[in-house]
Amino acid sequence: MKAVSQDVNIESLRDEIRRHEYRYYVLDDPEISDAEFDRLINELKKLEAAHPELITSDSPTQRVGGKPREGFVKVAHSAPMLSLDNAYSEEELRNWERRVHELTGRKDIEYVCELKLDGMSLALRYEDGKLVRGITRGDGNTGEDVTSNVRTVRSVPLSISPEKLKKAGIAADFEVRGEMLMPIASFKRMNEEREKHGLSLFANPRNATAGTVRQLEPSITAQRRLDFFAYMLIASNGSRTGEDARRSTNTDSGGAGGDGPAASPRTSARRSTTIDFGGAGVPARATPGAIFSNHWETLNALDAAGFKVNPRRALADNFDELWKFIGQWEEKRESLPYEIDGVVIKVDNTALQRELGFTGKAPRWAIAYKYAARAGITQIENIHVQVGRTGKLTPVAELKPVPIGGTTVSRATLHNMDEIERLGVKIGDWVEVERGGDVIPKVTRVIDDKDHSRGHKAFHMPEKCPVCGGHVVRAEGEADHRCVNQKCPAKLRETILHFASRGVMNIDGMGDALVTQLTDRGVVKDVADIYKLTKAQLLSLERMGDKSAQNVLNEIERSKKLPLERVIYGLGIRFVGERTAQFLAEHFGDISTLEKAGEEELQKVEEVGPRIAKSIVEFFAEPKNRELVEELRAAGLTLKGKKKERGTKLAGKTFVLTGTLANYTRDEAKKLIEDAGGKVAGSVSKKTDYVVAGADAGSKLDKAKELGVEVLDEKGLEQLLAASF
Ligand code: IVH
Repeated sequence: MKAVSQDVNIESLRDEIRRHEYRYYVLDDPEISDAEFDRLINELKKLEAAHPELITSDSPTQRVGGKPREGFVKVAHSAPMLSLDNAYSEEELRNWERRVHELTGRKDIEYVCELKLDGMSLALRYEDGKLVRGITRGDGNTGEDVTSNVRTVRSVPLSISPEKLKKAGIAADFEVRGEMLMPIASFKRMNEEREKHGLSLFANPRNATAGTVRQLEPSITAQRRLDFFAYMLIASNGSRTGEDARRSTNTDSGGAGGDGPAASPRTSARRSTTIDFGGAGVPARATPGAIFSNHWETLNALDAAGFKVNPRRALADNFDELWKFIGQWEEKRESLPYEIDGVVIKVDNTALQRELGFTGKAPRWAIAYKYAARAGITQIENIHVQVGRTGKLTPVAELKPVPIGGTTVSRATLHNMDEIERLGVKIGDWVEVERGGDVIPKVTRVIDDKDHSRGHKAFHMPEKCPVCGGHVVRAEGEADHRCVNQKCPAKLRETILHFASRGVMNIDGMGDALVTQLTDRGVVKDVADIYKLTKAQLLSLERMGDKSAQNVLNEIERSKKLPLERVIYGLGIRFVGERTAQFLAEHFGDISTLEKAGEEELQKVEEVGPRIAKSIVEFFAEPKNRELVEELRAAGLTLKGKKKERGTKLAGKTFVLTGTLANYTRDEAKKLIEDAGGKVAGSVSKKTDYVVAGADAGSKLDKAKELGVEVLDEKGLEQLLAASF
């Protein structure tokens, strides 16, 4: 008996909490204070701790659950998630309306106007009124299962009671689609927090939303406040064919123009009724509002079921009314708590929607009117360079302050040297500056007219890093300039994190939190400083007890024994990954020889081409990097390895393998050649010394003949190898 009454207690407490969650997160109209809400949650937690058998997955305490074990699983959509066609002008919008008139043969069309929220679309599946799956759009046909993250979003109901669904006129199994977004205030807060911790910033709320939904730790998603707005409802029955679905639509709702929820038999709770998929042979497509006779009612039903539906919506009887809605929100756009990039206009009547159908990727019954980017014209007073945490140098235009869409803009990014050249921009130029949802606005063009004289001072990338004075290089084929000094304070945190990470120096315990503290306090100024850390220094940090401090010190000590290739990898030389580091260690056997090697010598190393060779030479040309190596040597790291003895007869010779050899696989043949000092390339060029051709050799053999490159068969290769040892 006791258990039963406890069960009732716990469930009514949950219901009360759900109601407050709804008032707070969906309606933005809380009835109780945060403290009172916390008290209720704590009470529930206590009850659940005492009666774990009564915990249910839809309990408000269970929003943050386990993380997906192996990344996100791909899931097929019940019906494709489509996108919308865009209109960028009144004329384009009128053309769309004309098409709607022509195709339906009617002029008295009602439209629903909704804000076009700038986030990411998501599909939420409910079974028996419970949230079972949250799926990203993906390629429209298949998305990723992000349920564990979606569950943490408080405006997403984890379960909806049968009574509520019945009242709303929605069956117990259904799918809701809508937009996940990050409100601007949350976005700003999150970026401030990230900045404090030296983490990279998200450029805009849209990227932040996608990044948050697609990261693997639900507790992180829970901390970043996301919001979900529903704008589409389909009955869940993806397994049915279009024909079946259509039949059920017809029988259940009396076909096109069926009645609303009140008079409809659809209110019977568990009926999996109406989806509207296209006709036979046409890929299944979801039409919002298929359960109801019009979209407006669908939105109201979603609202009644407890979803957050944007209240900033309107019905429009004609073009003038929808145009008015568009104008109104363009003006008020800045006052919204989230980013929008336009207005979505939808034909209200579901039957007409069906009639209008779809083009390739978008419905004909809806269109997105996109607002013009908020832009302004101003003058570039100067261009300075910012150094990012990877060492990338970004030119930033300092502008004569200009108001754009409600904020004053005084800086804009110019991205890189290629962009500056593309725009043809000089200091003193008048330019157009665009502000999307992005944190940093961008320069989009130079104004070149009689009212705006052109600037004359060209901008050049500095040869020395403005932060540390280190060498600045630009790798071939790359747009970005970078600082190569691994001691550069701008990239310190990233450098240390890479060095300490698993697979590199493997210093367990030296993660984000510790590294941030060490670099922020100036205790660690380069990777060599890791080896000078004392216990007292570690103990002075937050959340560091004696035992953890000792563990970190032990880990640091252990790392000294790791082989040379790890150290080479840990240095963070651009383009030198784990494998290349291994080849370099094997080839040179110690770091001093590597340090002195020229590009030619470096290119003798397996998989090292001109680009990597140049990057290595540039790295060691920086005196601060050589100094760093010496400090690592003094600290006792392993800077000598075992030089892998290779034959030398084939040294400097380049081979290309083609066709199938009888006695060796490609990899075996490659190894034989490399062990004899030769190099194996992927394509034939004038630099190729030998092409080894097996059975069914193809175009590489033709090319060899064309270029007069010596061709060997398997036997020829064996003879050459025998001679070389
Ligand atoms: S309806 C068949 N309504 O815009 C497509 N979409 O450009 C139904 N979006 O992928 C979409 N606000 O992510 C619809 N009120 C709204 C929207 C909206 C934002 C997004 C959505 C969609 C994209 C299309």
